[in-house]
Amino acid sequence: MTFNKSKQPIGIFDSGIGGTSIWKEIKALLPNENTIYLSDSNNAPYGQKTNDEIIKLAIKNTELLIEKKCKMVVVACNTATTNAIEYLRKNYDIPFIGIEPAIKPASLQTKTNTIGILATKGTLNSKLFEKTSANINNNIQVIEQIGEGLVELIEDGKIESQKMTQLLKKHLSEMIIRKCDCIVLGCTHYPYLIPQIRKIVGEEINIIDSGEAVAKQTKNILTKNNLLNLSENNSKNIFYINKDKNTLKNVLSNYSDIEINYLYF
Ligand code: DGL
Repeated sequence: MTFNKSKQPIGIFDSGIGGTSIWKEIKALLPNENTIYLSDSNNAPYGQKTNDEIIKLAIKNTELLIEKKCKMVVVACNTATTNAIEYLRKNYDIPFIGIEPAIKPASLQTKTNTIGILATKGTLNSKLFEKTSANINNNIQVIEQIGEGLVELIEDGKIESQKMTQLLKKHLSEMIIRKCDCIVLGCTHYPYLIPQIRKIVGEEINIIDSGEAVAKQTKNILTKNNLLNLSENNSKNIFYINKDKNTLKNVLSNYSDIEINYLYF
């Protein structure tokens, strides 16, 4: 009899709590799946690190998830995906799902031919992002903005602070002045800022993030690999964090069937 891996968990990691925006989309689409989430908050932000450092952190997280018997790894971090997914796919024998800024969909939706992208320095400077940007129609202006300081404030639980509003106003000002009509959120932490961003940019601008697309892709790849968990049992969802648990607990406060543990990794 062949061993069926489908009941094994989906492993998900991020530099911190941001990837929970992806975890939520995955749970909404695939409630039966067991999950293990690593919040590497002690090493956040990844966005300021070198390509080598990001690859090392991605390896550390992946190996821990493999040790915990995950059947697949979702890299719920644009910075880690754009810097390390190629390496991971080459070196580990399980499926990987990544997340990249949705500039292609934005370029197809824009009417003003101007789109903005808010992402980390590590993502905007990566080769993979450069490659994706090169495939965008030349008529489209892309305003790239590093979201300096945003991840740190989110990790600190200061999502609704005055400091956050000030920083966002600064980061979004060029996009507003140059009349961009689509803003791409190129970091999995940023969906938690949508209410504040809305207040600043108004209702007319499209805010685009890739969370739902990642969940759909996760389902496709599980199906293709015969790994979809069809069991009706309640799923098990475990979170490991290597720093204070409070902010993680807050963003997951609507979920009762989860376990949050401190772990050194
Ligand atoms: N959530 C990560 C991303 O999507 C944040 C990166 C960071 O830690 O700087 O890029």
